[in-house]
Amino acid sequence: MPQIPRQFIDDLLNRVDIVDVIGERVPLKKKGSNHSACCPFHNEKTPSFTVSQQKQFYHCFGCGEHGSAISFLMDYENMHFVDAIETLAASVNLEVPREAVSPDDSKQRDHAKSLYALMEQCAEFYTTKLKQTDTAIAYLKDRGLDGQTARQFMLGFVPSGWDNLSKAFPSREKDLLETGMLIKNDKGRVYDRFRERIMFPIRDRRGRVVAFGGRVTGQDEPKYLNSPETTLYHKGSELYGLYEGRKAAQDAGMMVVVEGYMDVIALHQAGIHYAVATLGTATNRQHCDNIYRAVPEILFCFDGDRAGREAAWRALQAALPCLTDGREASFLFLPDGDDPDSLVTREGKAGFDQQVAARIPIIDFLFQHLAGDADLSQIGTRARLAEQSKPLLNQIPTGVYRELATQQLESLIGVSLNVTTTEAPQPQYAPRPQRAPQPTPRQVNNQSLTTMRRAVLLIVQNPSLVQTLEPEQYDFDAAIRGADVLMKLIGLCDANPEMTTGHVLEHFRDTKEWSALNKLAVTPYYPDERELDAESAKEEFRHCITELCKQSQQREADKLPPNVRIGLLGLRNQPRKP
Ligand code: UTP
Ligand code: MN
Repeated sequence: MPQIPRQFIDDLLNRVDIVDVIGERVPLKKKGSNHSACCPFHNEKTPSFTVSQQKQFYHCFGCGEHGSAISFLMDYENMHFVDAIETLAASVNLEVPREAVSPDDSKQRDHAKSLYALMEQCAEFYTTKLKQTDTAIAYLKDRGLDGQTARQFMLGFVPSGWDNLSKAFPSREKDLLETGMLIKNDKGRVYDRFRERIMFPIRDRRGRVVAFGGRVTGQDEPKYLNSPETTLYHKGSELYGLYEGRKAAQDAGMMVVVEGYMDVIALHQAGIHYAVATLGTATNRQHCDNIYRAVPEILFCFDGDRAGREAAWRALQAALPCLTDGREASFLFLPDGDDPDSLVTREGKAGFDQQVAARIPIIDFLFQHLAGDADLSQIGTRARLAEQSKPLLNQIPTGVYRELATQQLESLIGVSLNVTTTEAPQPQYAPRPQRAPQPTPRQVNNQSLTTMRRAVLLIVQNPSLVQTLEPEQYDFDAAIRGADVLMKLIGLCDANPEMTTGHVLEHFRDTKEWSALNKLAVTPYYPDERELDAESAKEEFRHCITELCKQSQQREADKLPPNVRIGLLGLRNQPRKP
């Protein structure tokens, strides 16, 4: 991983404005002190996506997506962290500096770079050969492909022979072996893996060629030959066509998952630009995660035969755990003997769209598959359906989606089930506390959170609060659970008076605290989700810290384990801003 200096990320986040970053991609409307829009991460008609300039933070109250400008680019543009940093830097004309990395690291990086470049050169070599080979062009034409589509997918051809690549790249034998393009046999002889095949480059989501699939033009076996797993290529997580189709998928709000290279390409040519294929493997959780990062709905497209239904069932199991609110999955089973390629080639986009319109929601497929032909008027059958459904429904994350799925099961079997969840649903906040013992005049805060968590929540949501207390007031015990994180936060926000919520979170990316802090960033302080105004926030924060100090004194009095006192007295070197 390239090392980007921490200081640079801090400067960058101080320079960019999340409102510009998001506003360039999603039409924002100013609403009070925030900006709002229909959420780009799920389908909705009324806006529940808000962007706070002050906090440099976005949050969708519908689907829960939230984060900094960096998170936004990662989720919306499907970028890696480093790409997101580079994009943001470019938008404010900054050059991303790299920390001096060890010679080993930089060598490794250069090596990877040279492998990607080599794969690109192989793809170019194959496209050149395709242009020179009439029979190969005729094969693709015969299958209905036009030149433009072939270019978009960078289709190529490798002639017969055992040493096409060795001849084309004479100095790169070692690298060609490492990328799986050459094979070395037991006798030490080195030869081309792909011979006399139509070549399909497989690109990763950044568009880099990482592998190839190769199809015979005749009847030989195997029909398709694929690159092996290499340092560049992990077939369990790549999706063919993801790079080419991601933008169109975002416009369509869905991605279609099909089985074959040619299916993706034929659909693309017919105007359905949002299809991807798993690469000869069953759909897994990683595939689903990767797709849901780009769009809220996956449409799985399978053959209507037995094998197709079984593959679909595996896809269902992979998708269930991903179904947080706002996401959807559905299934489409093609008529016997058709695959998406043959269907769309024969009936065009309209024919395929018709199938899409008749897609089956994942929950319906789940119940259909389990119930089969069984007679649901029988009590036993209904009981068995409930029994078999429960563990599957429990795979769905707690939320509205799971509720609705459960209701559907209840209506199918005619019994109300209050047992569909093995774990108790996580309350977002505690039930309204009883009125009587209420401390006055303070408002009732979120009692499901410990004092420590409340303190952390308050800082994450309002980093400037840290400045409202004197250093000596942070006199709590490091042994209290969570004190280390609180300390870090106080140190961080004390040193940077300009800190925002988005910025604070970025400091914790890739640490063990990341997910907890992200959650607290969007947890309401009051159980009824009332806004916490600036004055009350100060008051609450002071109260939390005082409370933690009291707890510390109590621990000392109780002679709890040796105390490490946290002295923040030395923390602040600079005079505080008024
Ligand atoms: P299919 O056999 O359904 O082929 O394999 P297809 O995609 O319809 O191919 P055409 O239309 O005959 O050209 C589906 C996918 O399974 C993998 C490939 O990824 C293929 O696209 N596969 C299939 C292999 O890896 N090897 C094979 O020998 C066959
Ligand atoms: Mn086919």
